[in-house]
Amino acid sequence: MKADSKNTQIKQRRPEEVGVKEASSKLLVVDDLTKVYTKGQGLAKSKIAAVNKVTFSLERDKPEIFTLAGESGSGKSTVAKLILGFEVPTSGSIRYKGKEIAKLNGEKEFMKEVQPVFQNPFETFNPLKKIHTYLYETEKNLAEADQGQLVEESLALVGLSLAEIKDKYPSEMSGGQLQRTSIARALITNPSLLITDEPVSMIDASLRMSIINLFKRLKEEQRVSIIYITHDLATAYYVSDRIAIMLRGEVVEMGSVEEVLDNPLHPYTQLLKASIPVPNPADKWESEIALSDLETKEYLRIGCKFSGRCPRVKAICRECEPENYQVEERYVRCHLYR
Ligand SMILES: Nc1ncnc2c1ncn2[C@@H]1O[C@H](COP(=O)(O)OP(=O)(O)O)[C@@H](O)[C@H]1O
Ligand code: SF4
Ligand SMILES: [Mg+2]
Repeated sequence: MKADSKNTQIKQRRPEEVGVKEASSKLLVVDDLTKVYTKGQGLAKSKIAAVNKVTFSLERDKPEIFTLAGESGSGKSTVAKLILGFEVPTSGSIRYKGKEIAKLNGEKEFMKEVQPVFQNPFETFNPLKKIHTYLYETEKNLAEADQGQLVEESLALVGLSLAEIKDKYPSEMSGGQLQRTSIARALITNPSLLITDEPVSMIDASLRMSIINLFKRLKEEQRVSIIYITHDLATAYYVSDRIAIMLRGEVVEMGSVEEVLDNPLHPYTQLLKASIPVPNPADKWESEIALSDLETKEYLRIGCKFSGRCPRVKAICRECEPENYQVEERYVRCHLYR
């Protein structure tokens, strides 16, 4: 909320608002980010804010795993696309090392330093192309590279060797191996930030943890920051430093992963935590909580987007959009914390 708003007496603020001076100490600053899409056709056409006033930042000298979690259709991938420059924000800003992403997009340094890892490694790679050629092509674009050395080094970082992948087509590898290879490719450019969108949801459950552990190691040993996007709170809890829970475009709760998941304050986080399924998180979450017919309805809802499902809903929730309230070290977007 801006300072001139009528509710200035209430303690509320955008999380981690940053001035120009602070910006250079930040690796990434996402500030009041909004993306509006038009959904549907004809009379059913409506505008939704797939990402609505999202604010968070990552420190430059303190690598961390920052998780964006929430059910399907909450705007997580749109945040990733905006940071990667695949989409243009409707309003708000994204700064990388103090510079607007819009101005950096296409710049070689930015493309090297911020690398995506996608959900489905079988779609990342062309089925007709040998997998090692991707790695060599990425390396070739780096003028300073010794031919082959970076490929070997980055494969070693993900626990693979050139011998294991050489001359193989994607179909000859497991999903886990292929996702490792796509991470190895991302590492060739020595990135500072990986944006990983549901990176393990297509991987065999038995291999998921090896990728999650790899992220931990990359953070600790290579000092790479990672934005981990997931609908799986179990892996989020295990791997993250901080977590932001998204609901219909908004971050409704953000803080350290222990605080948020051990003691969730927002009723939506409480619902998510209560729904953590055993033993196969991904499948059950998708089927039980992805209420797709509700999606547009909730996006268009006035007041709190969760008011239709919230066990603690009050009259004000249906009328006024809750602001971000700071509760100790975390932020909660809910009228209960006014
Ligand atoms: N290009 C687009 N055009 C219109 N609507 C979109 C587009 N991309 C995403 N959306 C909508 O924005 C909302 C958020 O989508 P997304 O960011 O993919 O969520 P998530 O990754 O959390 O599942 C969804 O309702 C989705 O249908
Ligand atoms: S603002 Fe109201 S409806 Fe929304 S989560 Fe809080 S109590 Fe529930
Ligand atoms: Mg997504």
